[in-house]
Amino acid sequence: MTDSSRHRSTHFVRPARLEDARAIRTVARESWHAAYDDLLGPDTVEMMTDEWYALEGLRESIQSRDSHLFVAPEPDDDKPDRTDELAGFVHVGQWPDEPAVGHLARLYVRSGHWGCGLGTSLCDHGERAVEDDGYDRIRLEVFTTNERAIDFYEGRGYEPVAEVVEELEGETYRVSLLERSL
Ligand SMILES: CC(C)(COP(=O)(O)OP(=O)(O)OC[C@H]1O[C@@H](n2cnc3c(N)ncnc32)[C@H](O)[C@@H]1OP(=O)(O)O)[C@@H](O)C(=O)NCCC(=O)NCCS
Repeated sequence: MTDSSRHRSTHFVRPARLEDARAIRTVARESWHAAYDDLLGPDTVEMMTDEWYALEGLRESIQSRDSHLFVAPEPDDDKPDRTDELAGFVHVGQWPDEPAVGHLARLYVRSGHWGCGLGTSLCDHGERAVEDDGYDRIRLEVFTTNERAIDFYEGRGYEPVAEVVEELEGETYRVSLLERSL
């Protein structure tokens, strides 16, 4: 049992519904600004979240049979089914071109809730979903400077397998690939 398991599945998490798309984008934008403004700059963050979290694309992901999107309602909300406000989400699927490897594609929690166990509950759900789909490993990409997230993942047993350089909006960034078996 790892330290992070003391948070294990203590927060309510449910599959995303189409009506959640707008609130998912809001969580992504807020969390990206909090986590990446220093690295990417607020204008790039705004541009990239507009592009990567376009509502149509999110709705496709929610409906897709090839991936799973789960959301966590605000923890103190007495209406956990509401779709207008969310605290976090996770998106998992298959790592491109590797049939045995799951992909933890997105994990974002609103910054006001960091450290409360929501990331743990969301990640538990995402990992379980890809494990149930038959993948034997799960892999993710994280900015090499994102120490908070790397600490979080290493606490769950992820290990670095590679470091690559990626170009975003004309700038280059170091990105670590982390992986764990399921
Ligand atoms: C990374 C993230 C998802 C973690 O979610 P969270 O809800 O804050 O994490 P939890 O509260 O479940 O923390 C679980 C464990 O992670 C580790 N951890 C979390 N935040 C940490 C921090 N700031 N520093 C060091 N370790 C940390 C701890 O081991 C913690 O266990 P503990 O509380 O028993 O010490 C969240 O911080 C986030 O959304 N960050 C911005 C977006 C991001 O970087 N996403 C990942 C993209 S690849």
